[in-house]
Amino acid sequence: MQSPLVGATILLRPFTLADVPAAHAVYSDPAVMRYVGHGPVRAIGGTDSMIRQYMAHQRTHGFGFWAVVDKATGVVIGDAGLARTADGEVEMGYTLAQAWWGRGVASQAAGLWVGAARDQLGIERLRALVEEPNLGSRRVLEKLGFERDGVTIAFDREHLVYRLTL
Ligand SMILES: CC(C)(COP(=O)(O)OP(=O)(O)OC[C@H]1O[C@@H](n2cnc3c(N)ncnc32)[C@H](O)[C@@H]1OP(=O)(O)O)[C@@H](O)C(=O)NCCC(=O)NCCS
Repeated sequence: MQSPLVGATILLRPFTLADVPAAHAVYSDPAVMRYVGHGPVRAIGGTDSMIRQYMAHQRTHGFGFWAVVDKATGVVIGDAGLARTADGEVEMGYTLAQAWWGRGVASQAAGLWVGAARDQLGIERLRALVEEPNLGSRRVLEKLGFERDGVTIAFDREHLVYRLTL
């Protein structure tokens, strides 16, 4: 799957290396990265590696973490996507620039991926990991029908596990 997923105000498309500077502006912000991975990415080389990994995952699996693009301006405002995990599940995630929070963007992006997972990719179940205080992210998942299913450790921190059967 390569064609953009188009929502009301955003579209999702595979990353290219040209997106590294825009992605780094997002991934280097400590507020954005408070509950993401190992925290803010300091050097642009770190973001370059992440984007290369997303592109490689896309080539291998036909899906992955994609750029979230504001349709009105064409600006890359974050990521949203699916990743195949080491234990064979498919995990959804999203990370948006702070200026775009609270405008329904994550709900749109996550909804587009849930639809694509079910209708285009034939995926039967999605997982998402969220830290308990990350209420915005939990609300995105709960609105889509994800349900709590225990806890796990990721990036050395406790996360709630959410699952959705498609
Ligand atoms: C979490 C995040 C993705 C939410 O994105 P968003 O585009 O602001 O979310 P939406 O506007 O679609 O809001 C979804 C719902 O959550 C609610 N919400 C958003 N932020 C919230 C917050 N900080 N506290 C409580 N509720 C919140 C919204 O009101 C909305 O609920 P509603 O539809 O019932 O009104 C965004 O804040 C972000 O990118 N954070 C940094 C990265 C991150 O934490 N990613 C997730 C890691 S698990």
